[in-house]
Amino acid sequence: MTDRLHINLDRLQRRLAQFNAIGALPGGGTCRLALSDEDRQGRDLLVQWMRELGLSVTIDAIGNIFGVRAGSEDIAPVMVGSHIDTVGTGGRYDGLYGVLAGLEALESLNDAGVVTRRPLALAAFTNEEGSRFSPFAMGSLVHVGALALEDCYAIKGIDGATVGDELRRIGYLGDVTPGAIHAHAYFELHIEQGPVLEAEGLTIGAVEGVQGMAWSELVIEGQSAHAGSTPMRLRHDAGYVASEIGVFIRRLAREMGGNQVGTVGRIELAPGLINVIAQRATVSIDLRNTDEALLQEAQRRLDAFVAELAAREGVTVTARSLARFEPVIFPDSMVSMVEAEAQSRGLSCRRLPSGAGHDAQMMARVCPAGMIFVPSVGGLSHNVNELTYPQHLEAGANVLLSLIQRLAA
Ligand code: GLV
Ligand code: MN
Ligand code: MN
Repeated sequence: MTDRLHINLDRLQRRLAQFNAIGALPGGGTCRLALSDEDRQGRDLLVQWMRELGLSVTIDAIGNIFGVRAGSEDIAPVMVGSHIDTVGTGGRYDGLYGVLAGLEALESLNDAGVVTRRPLALAAFTNEEGSRFSPFAMGSLVHVGALALEDCYAIKGIDGATVGDELRRIGYLGDVTPGAIHAHAYFELHIEQGPVLEAEGLTIGAVEGVQGMAWSELVIEGQSAHAGSTPMRLRHDAGYVASEIGVFIRRLAREMGGNQVGTVGRIELAPGLINVIAQRATVSIDLRNTDEALLQEAQRRLDAFVAELAAREGVTVTARSLARFEPVIFPDSMVSMVEAEAQSRGLSCRRLPSGAGHDAQMMARVCPAGMIFVPSVGGLSHNVNELTYPQHLEAGANVLLSLIQRLAA
């Protein structure tokens, strides 16, 4: 086996720059919301690059893109991948780095004339972010058989468009059955999106698992009325109830401590006018914890608080679950492989859990899955100023290259 190949950092950075011109935001960062025109342009460019590398490209019925590099045997491939969609105010590395580093690793193998025993598959999963359409990780969920295609097609986004219509519109409703490519193992390289590696001066994170997640949407119905003439005691103010819930989420996470986090990322008030008490509020809730029992406790405490508040304020609250995933632990063999590869390349490394959700947590349902993290400057992500230094981009991609060679041998 040829070991110690190196990726070409210049080529990786050039591709990142060219790709990030698609959906570039005026102040930096990118917006390539899932199944938007920008997502389509990105997909087209990725498919073009895959073909230039001689990969055989398939698109499945949820729009997942796979580029397969043949091995010497026609057996299950080692898969690497991530996503190319972004949140509305996304950075330049979340997801895209894993996909383009995977492409770079495959091109480095081409350059070195290496033929692996197993084929290698590069995946770009549809709608990992979930910003436009819930749930997040839609493409990988369909791939592993955890979400039905027809149900997905009917899902409405925050702009009212459906997944099925948008897939068709951008030309990425493929004819391959999801899950047709069964991976022997899956590795995803990703920026950490948190502060741990940078704070400890480390280069590589060997990801132990991904915390559990509970996404929901609350619709609060109150009564619109005059903001000047309605006495405070007679109000059924949906905006006030939404604000109380936001404050409660923060207090809940602080009280529970540990790994409990909670976010209200979206509040929409209707009619949304300065002198009208809000009739309706739509509130998004994101609760996460590495411990399933504690995540359930957080949800229970939130539900009890909302019920008591609704009764007190004379409003109705309808809750809808948007996504619910238990914490995932990656196989120790995959975590150890990352540590060993980092060590043999002389790169500092530690184990850590992932705060963000990833396609790898879904892939873990059907094959051994693992993740490699590299540092995020200031721990910042889902922010246009997201940054990972070139030496870290290079180190992570080199570890990925070694891992796929090892797994495909
Ligand atoms: C996906 O990026 C998530 O963790 O929200
Ligand atoms: Mn991501
Ligand atoms: Mn993300």
